[in-house]
Amino acid sequence: MAISILSTLLSSIVFLTCYILWKKVLISSASSKAGCSSPIKYNHLDPFFGLDLFIRKIRYTQVGDLLALDDEIFAKYGKTVHTLFFGANHWMTMDPLMIQAVAATEADKFGNEPTNRKSCGPLLGDGAFTVDGALWKRSRDIINPIFSRSQVSQLSSLKIHIQRFMEHIPRDGSTIDIQPLTKMLFLDSSTEFIFGKSAGSLTECELTIGAQKFSEAFDEGLRGMRKNYMTGQFSWLIGTDKKWLEKCSEIHAVVDGYIEEEIEYQRSTKEMGLSTDTPSESSAYKYVLLRELVKNHSDDKLYIRSELMNVFFAARDSVGTVTANMIFHLARSPGVWQKLRKEVGGIASNQELTFEFLKSLKYVQAVIEETLRLVHPVDRCWRTCLSPCILPRGGGNSGREPILLQPGDQIELVYGSMHKDKDIWGEDASSFVPERMLGLKHSWQYIPFMGGRRTCPGQQNAYTDMAFFLVKMVQEFKTIENRDDCLEYVEEYVMTKESRNGVKVAFTVS
Ligand code: HEM
Repeated sequence: MAISILSTLLSSIVFLTCYILWKKVLISSASSKAGCSSPIKYNHLDPFFGLDLFIRKIRYTQVGDLLALDDEIFAKYGKTVHTLFFGANHWMTMDPLMIQAVAATEADKFGNEPTNRKSCGPLLGDGAFTVDGALWKRSRDIINPIFSRSQVSQLSSLKIHIQRFMEHIPRDGSTIDIQPLTKMLFLDSSTEFIFGKSAGSLTECELTIGAQKFSEAFDEGLRGMRKNYMTGQFSWLIGTDKKWLEKCSEIHAVVDGYIEEEIEYQRSTKEMGLSTDTPSESSAYKYVLLRELVKNHSDDKLYIRSELMNVFFAARDSVGTVTANMIFHLARSPGVWQKLRKEVGGIASNQELTFEFLKSLKYVQAVIEETLRLVHPVDRCWRTCLSPCILPRGGGNSGREPILLQPGDQIELVYGSMHKDKDIWGEDASSFVPERMLGLKHSWQYIPFMGGRRTCPGQQNAYTDMAFFLVKMVQEFKTIENRDDCLEYVEEYVMTKESRNGVKVAFTVS
């Protein structure tokens, strides 16, 4: 019996090794036929599966400095390097030319679906983030106009949430960790914009129990998704995570309840001869994603749920962590706060803070841009090659010759490293200097919202919310002070990146 198990095991290993070697030969001959060079390769200790690098990544993530490992790899091998991820070809790049080549290439060459759908599908369903092709196009065609209409009309609702947020900040110079508060602020506003109901986390008396439970369950959902990403194509070894699937169903039940309620609300409103555009009692937002989706797709509840889940996933913690990061840097740069005070102090008291006006505040915008450059909530994205594709760099001894990617190969676009590249930003690339952003021309060297067709649809909404938040903070508080002994930013990853030590600060009022 034992001998038979051993011989099966040995023949499987021999088969797998032959398969991997055969694949390597095929790739190298296809690449030279296409006029490409061999890629610059990471020197793996485990040349078959690349588990050594995987383990290093986990270690660096545990100490909160994954980007440092990326920087070390790029410094050693150049700006594009070939690695192995569980035996599959995996490229990492921080080269703007490569990032542009991948993001701006035709939709049939690179996709998100092979990685995102498998890892996130059971929770998020098919929506903008998880699918490619016609399904993805349908999704973007529907959500893009809703985002553009909402971005100019949402500020009055955000104002209410910010007022509640301000009530939690001490004015006597005592220390507060602002990171959980900014996350709650933008959780409340995003749940209201997406579902028409705020999670009410800043005002417990108004707390919508369903929304709050949903948010807590979603945290569990995200942890399961992260596990799926980490185990990649070997997730089958761990087996189906039944507890996670149950959590997904629990989350879906809450969203399905919201959808039913909205369908019923719109039906009765129409029966009474009223417009469905009238803001409902639970939300002051003029455009609510759920309401807009129900207007045209009430016969497809699964579609509505998936679309909502995809957007909620992208919106929930992103703005909350960026605003906390902004405060993190401002607390360590009192001079920047004073410059902001000067610009914001010049705003006339009767000036309405509109979308257009906020865009015109150059220094406010520069502070937001510089924060996004230094600490991004998701500092990389992954694409899978769908059909053979030649990319301009990463091959030959210099790394400047073209390389061939085959279907199934993955490329990790590490814009977090590109945003700190000294060749682009100069010797002070790691310092917080908003002035460098004044007059910066749009290019592929700076892409906090990615670029090309999969650029973030929430970009303008996020800029508006962040600018509004910053102006209100600067109007309210005269000084800001860091109250954390650790001056460095230590990363904590779930699906987005935040500060492991929180953001401990103190404010004084004017
Ligand atoms: C500061 C805040 C934000 C940042 C830095 C950000 C950044 C990004 C980035 C880099 C991507 C591309 C990801 C990839 O290709 O893998 C993306 C995609 C996306 N974002 Fe955002 N985002 C932010 C806020 C938001 C908000 C507030 C929403 C919605 C209300 C949103 C909705 C989306 C969606 C739906 C996608 C998927 C787009 C697609 O694949 O076609 N984002 N975001």
